[in-house]
Amino acid sequence: MTAVGIDAIEIWTGNLKLDLPGTFAPQKGEDPEKYTKGLGLNASSFPDSYEDIVTMGANAAHRLMERKGLEPDDIGRIDVATESAFDNSKPVSTYVAGCLEQVYDGDFHHANKGERKFACIAGTQSLDDAYNWIRAGRNRGRGALVIATDTALYARGDAGEATQGAGAVAMYISEDPDLVELSTEQGYGSADETDFLKPNQQFPSVDGKRSVQVYLARMREALEDYESVAGDTHPDQFAYIPFHTPFPGMVRKAGLLVYRHMIRDTPIEKELADEIGRQPRAEAFDDEEAFHDALREYTDALKETETYQEWYGETIDPTLTLSREVGNWYTGSVHVARVSALKHALENDLDLAGSQLLVGSYGSGAQAEGHAETIQDGWKEEIEALNLEEQLEARYDLSWDDYEEIHDVHNHDMDVDVEEFTTPDSEFVFDGWGRMGERKYRYVE
Ligand code: HMG
Repeated sequence: MTAVGIDAIEIWTGNLKLDLPGTFAPQKGEDPEKYTKGLGLNASSFPDSYEDIVTMGANAAHRLMERKGLEPDDIGRIDVATESAFDNSKPVSTYVAGCLEQVYDGDFHHANKGERKFACIAGTQSLDDAYNWIRAGRNRGRGALVIATDTALYARGDAGEATQGAGAVAMYISEDPDLVELSTEQGYGSADETDFLKPNQQFPSVDGKRSVQVYLARMREALEDYESVAGDTHPDQFAYIPFHTPFPGMVRKAGLLVYRHMIRDTPIEKELADEIGRQPRAEAFDDEEAFHDALREYTDALKETETYQEWYGETIDPTLTLSREVGNWYTGSVHVARVSALKHALENDLDLAGSQLLVGSYGSGAQAEGHAETIQDGWKEEIEALNLEEQLEARYDLSWDDYEEIHDVHNHDMDVDVEEFTTPDSEFVFDGWGRMGERKYRYVE
């Protein structure tokens, strides 16, 4: 069977940054370490006044097409995953295609376009749609462009304000991919939950503490469902495990949960038993609360073991490097985590071709999904071609007053105009409103 997967990936960060320990913490009267150590974040990316989900998505896609030498005729499908859409009818992918048509001779009239919504997991669902379309043989030799783009803003004063972010990830899905091959094995954990939602409103209603519990519960279900098709997982099976990363502290919890699950009934659990005992089994307890207390105690002890910390340092921590600098990009977040891991491998000269990733996606509302990916021979060239440091360093560092202004600019209920903080350079920009309330865009050389 021909391999199908992600051939190339590009990332576009919002052009502004908010320093969390330096600028945000003092204004909130909080210890900077709540952000750097607790949540695990140094900064958030923000869109400048001329940026939005379309410009960031189109800019990531343009860079990807240029680098891979793709023309519109090579792309048979454009799906945008977002939870920041501004139109209930016309999909963001049409705006993105309109942008790209300004800079290419060809057009995308032949391409099937759509928009995917299920909170942060929609990016992964769009990957699935592309994979299925190719596997079904309906692609006529073309690939699919999948774009995950969001401005993840919270209402001012919301606990989630510290986890904001803005950026886009563009991926080209094709046969014989250079980066990773996707597999047919997947696991789901899905339930009707009310943890984070936006009922016809721009900023989310969030039950933050509950959302953390729902994330973990659904992720565990997804792992068990994955194992029901792919067989038991083992911690040494995967080079990295990129998770959806609303903030790195969340993944610290997910990593520990997954490790505990994976080592059950393995020699690792046995070897650790002298130090911390065996994992409590539900059958051994009459009362559920006592079982949960025992499990919590075991998990706390497991976290402190050298065995776990070494595994976490190699398999999970490298997936968080980019997220620490950009915050939550919602639909793009798990795809940023994958890139972060592969960048770590590149920088440490690891030979990854043929190794596996276990990718854990999540969207509030709520659904988790787990699947394995096999790293392809071309991964190094793909990751070497990214210019992430350059992008992150070029961001304008917002003062507190700047931050208040730019948050208002992007607040749909406010009509605020500010001078742009940065100068657009070889990118698409928002160019005002059309006669039917549509947003207009132009390419700036
Ligand atoms: P909070 O109440 O401000 O923070 O909000 P906290 O008091 O819980 O502290 C956070 C962590 O920092 C804790 O660590 C503290 O101990 C630690 P933990 O105990 O949990 O390991 N801490 C410190 N550490 C060192 N030094 C200090 C210090 N002070 C505190 N001085 C909350 C946290 C997550 C609730 C908030 O940020 C929030 O509401 N975020 C938005 C919701 C969210 O991100 N949920 C995550 C799961 S849901 C999800 O991922 C889906 C999502 O992406 C949306 C979608 O799918 O569309 C959000």
